[in-house]
Amino acid sequence: TWTMLNIVEEQVERVRAQVGDKRVICALSGGVDSAVAGALVQRAVGEQLTCVFVDHGLLRKGEAEQVEKDFVAATGAVLKIVDAQDRFLGALAGVHDPEEKRAIIGREFIRVFEQAAREVVAESGSGGEEVRYLVQGTLYPDVVESGGGSGAANIKSHHNVGGLPEDLRFTLVEPLRELFKDEVRKVGEELGLPVDMVWRQPFPGPGLAIRIIGDVTRERLEILRAADGIAREELSRAGLDRDIWQCPVVLLADVRSVGVQGDGRTYGHPVVLRPVSSEDAMTADWSRVPYEVLATISNRITNEVREINRVTLDVTSKPPGTIEWE
Ligand code: XMP
Repeated sequence: TWTMLNIVEEQVERVRAQVGDKRVICALSGGVDSAVAGALVQRAVGEQLTCVFVDHGLLRKGEAEQVEKDFVAATGAVLKIVDAQDRFLGALAGVHDPEEKRAIIGREFIRVFEQAAREVVAESGSGGEEVRYLVQGTLYPDVVESGGGSGAANIKSHHNVGGLPEDLRFTLVEPLRELFKDEVRKVGEELGLPVDMVWRQPFPGPGLAIRIIGDVTRERLEILRAADGIAREELSRAGLDRDIWQCPVVLLADVRSVGVQGDGRTYGHPVVLRPVSSEDAMTADWSRVPYEVLATISNRITNEVREINRVTLDVTSKPPGTIEWE
């Protein structure tokens, strides 16, 4: 639309004026904000920008591919992919505690990103002088919440980049600072980003790690990814994406119950469906998803994911229950 085009053009000019001919780096998380911010900066300065995607192995089905293929196809951005799955899984091995999981993921992310940033600096061949700018998908509500300050890279939440060492200090480029979420999505559409990416529901930075109740293993991630993929597919098919704020699927990995699947008795895991409606995630109510849709999700998960033999529904509002289980 006309206004979105104006916003894009204005921000493109501003980014050009801010960074000149210097190099810029952007961490993509798979989320809307970093993708739109990255796409905007790419539009402004092209190959002066290097996007970095740290694949921690905790994203949902198709999300890493969306960044690696669709984002690049839509924007033409230069993308450096860091496959850090083994590293994150290694660091998370045996860890049950939710806050400990978050701390580990935050810490590893900073280390991996820092290394990638050093490589980008080295590859730019100028002894580091040239890479000075870091793109952040800060939105207007974040600016207001943090008192309007800008400048230094500090952490909004662990999946953002913070705590980088002195010699990697960046000046922030924040092309979404004046926008609300719905405007960011429209700008993303204007920039030709994949619809699934632009309309992605909120997803926590620590990803599937905090939706596995128990320790995180590769096998458990695969089980949860399959179940979550089915739930998302069926909720979309039923046209419920915009009614439902988000629908965590939670794997109770340390719980087993008896079932009958196929020819015999099984002793498998339950998953919990946690569809909620909300305005801002501060409060939420459980979504009244039609029984037919729940039935389809349940049948498909128990038929297609052999390790799961029970599907349950969380009917707790927030408060008292948080949206995520961890
Ligand atoms: P809760 O579970 O606190 O979640 O009701 C509120 C919203 O925040 C998201 N969430 C997170 N997002 N890092 C994030 O980036 C986190 O550690 C985290 N924990 C919860 C959650 O998905 C919901 O949208």
